[in-house]
Amino acid sequence: MVLLGPERNAGLTIARGPVVALASDISTNALAGARAATYPITALDALPEALRTQWCVPAHAGEPGQLTIDPALQAMVRFRRLNLLEEWPMRGAFDVIFCRNVMIYFDSPTKDRLVERFARQLVPGGYLYIGHSERVGGPASALLEPVGPTIYRRKGHI
Ligand SMILES: C[S@@+](CC[C@H](N)C(=O)[O-])C[C@H]1O[C@@H](n2cnc3c(N)ncnc32)[C@H](O)[C@@H]1O
Repeated sequence: MVLLGPERNAGLTIARGPVVALASDISTNALAGARAATYPITALDALPEALRTQWCVPAHAGEPGQLTIDPALQAMVRFRRLNLLEEWPMRGAFDVIFCRNVMIYFDSPTKDRLVERFARQLVPGGYLYIGHSERVGGPASALLEPVGPTIYRRKGHI
């Protein structure tokens, strides 16, 4: 929604372009919930009003009090089951990676290895967003520069 912005026509132009998001989780339940893309209105309170108005629609089947994410936005997302600690099928580099509140389950060496893998999967200048209780440590520190609280940018050509 942030990428598409509050102007519908400008947003649809972006949505029909080459932007694709990979949404992954190890849990098939979590993926099913995300694919359903339907939320109680109260769960969307924190969304800026202009984005919610533009990119959320009343849930199909007329479920009262529920909103669904606009199909144009849903079409930009690919949902895949992925264990972050195993091999990744993705070959291309990413412009942005969000991984929030997942590394809380892992020990420090595992976190450090994972953050290094994220860093190497980013294009130079690409961004990594992590959770507020998480940090970048280990070898990834040489690959990433902090640019804001819990936001890091991939340095070029290391
Ligand atoms: C606390 S939730 C955070 C969800 C979301 N990122 C957020 O901030 O709201 C943690 C998620 O990590 C997923 N997870 C745990 N271990 C994982 C792993 N090894 N690979 C991928 N996902 C994992 C869980 O299934 C769960 O959906």
